[in-house]
Amino acid sequence: MFDQIGSADRARDWLAERVRAAHRLMRFGHRVYRTDDPRALALKATAQEIGGGRVDLALQVEESAHEVLRELKPGRPLYTNVEFLSTRRWCSSWPGIPRELSTVTFAASRVVGWTAHILEQIDDNRLIRPTATYLGEMPATASSGRR
Ligand SMILES: CC(C)(COP(=O)(O)OP(=O)(O)OC[C@H]1O[C@@H](n2cnc3c(N)ncnc32)[C@H](O)[C@@H]1OP(=O)(O)O)[C@@H](O)C(=O)NCCC(=O)NCCS
Repeated sequence: MFDQIGSADRARDWLAERVRAAHRLMRFGHRVYRTDDPRALALKATAQEIGGGRVDLALQVEESAHEVLRELKPGRPLYTNVEFLSTRRWCSSWPGIPRELSTVTFAASRVVGWTAHILEQIDDNRLIRPTATYLGEMPATASSGRR
């Protein structure tokens, strides 16, 4: 998507054309979150700190996508999901990983969680609908009571 958009000034038109042609904007919308994905907000703060090149383009594309979705899909709760800013391609600080490995890199980051779900399921060998409850200490920066 970033390759095809090329530069921030083309983002709005490119995105609007996709939505008008009944395509979905990848990495927007979520089955569960009907509001901001808190993980995406955390990543956005980091992206703003890093800044530069692809990161700035990604942030501008995100802003344009929100405008386009508000205009063309009014009333739909379509926010940025975590994959938008976790995508390796926008981040110039992760050099040397070939683009083709994007999906497996993403999958590798999920292996611990998938393994935990398998162990949970094996306990009584019934299909589980994975949910997660964090029971550990909250980081010092998180406000108290947040989960
Ligand atoms: C994640 C996703 C499947 C959630 O779908 P959903 O909550 O079931 O949303 P719906 O299918 O009910 O769609 C609601 C409306 O918003 C539209 N919509 C949903 N996601 C959209 C997107 N990313 N871009 C443009 N329009 C979108 C749908 O076309 C639909 O419009 P309509 O009512 O005019 O037909 C969907 O947002 C999507 O396909 N996103 C892009 C793919 C993606 O990023 N997946 C990774 C998610 S972790």
